[in-house]
Amino acid sequence: MRVLGISGSPREGGNTELLVETALDVCRHEGAETELLSLAGRPIKPCTACGGCMGTAPPRCVQDDPNFDGLIEKFMAADGILVGSPVYFGSATPETMALLDRVGYVARFSGNFLRHKVGAAVTVARRAGQNFTFAQLNYFFLINEMFVPGSTYWNVAIGRERGEVAADEEGMETVKNLARNMTYLLHKLGR
Ligand SMILES: Cc1cc2nc3c(=O)[nH]c(=O)nc-3n(C[C@H](O)[C@H](O)[C@H](O)COP(=O)(O)O)c2cc1C
Repeated sequence: MRVLGISGSPREGGNTELLVETALDVCRHEGAETELLSLAGRPIKPCTACGGCMGTAPPRCVQDDPNFDGLIEKFMAADGILVGSPVYFGSATPETMALLDRVGYVARFSGNFLRHKVGAAVTVARRAGQNFTFAQLNYFFLINEMFVPGSTYWNVAIGRERGEVAADEEGMETVKNLARNMTYLLHKLGR
């Protein structure tokens, strides 16, 4: 059972990283191998709609982008994919969406390697926009035939400055419960 955790914040050591790491800790405790992919300091170029990924074997994006190298393989190898994003003006960050757009397009034109993986989203903001961003990320999972586990609340948290989210007790607990449910589902799926 492999879980890939993605932090889509450009801020190293920020709240999103903390939430994703918290979830991955629980996943490890439940028997998963985990990996954290932080996009801080690793900007991913957006999809250019060139169509070069159509029918590639093995699946790949043809853009020249060293920061994207190896990421398709990470997604393919994962059973569970946990995506965290801060809220930027009511939406997921451009970093998060650039990654998902490119992985998603490659997947769709390569027999959809995301099918039957488990996907979960976590979002954090100073004040508002978490639910919209949460829904935005869930749309990605659902159009890619992925299974989405729930938690004891929507997977949203509150925090502004680095580390502030740790004080959001309910948000932290929601993310831990999410990770328990994610690994439960992965076990049931025989991963
Ligand atoms: C460009 C930008 C836009 C933001 N937009 C929102 C917003 O729409 N709503 C909100 O409550 N917080 C907003 N924030 C605050 C961040 O969501 C918040 O600081 C979050 O904890 C950052 O996560 P990080 O520490 O993982 O980078 C914004 C921050 C930035 C830099």
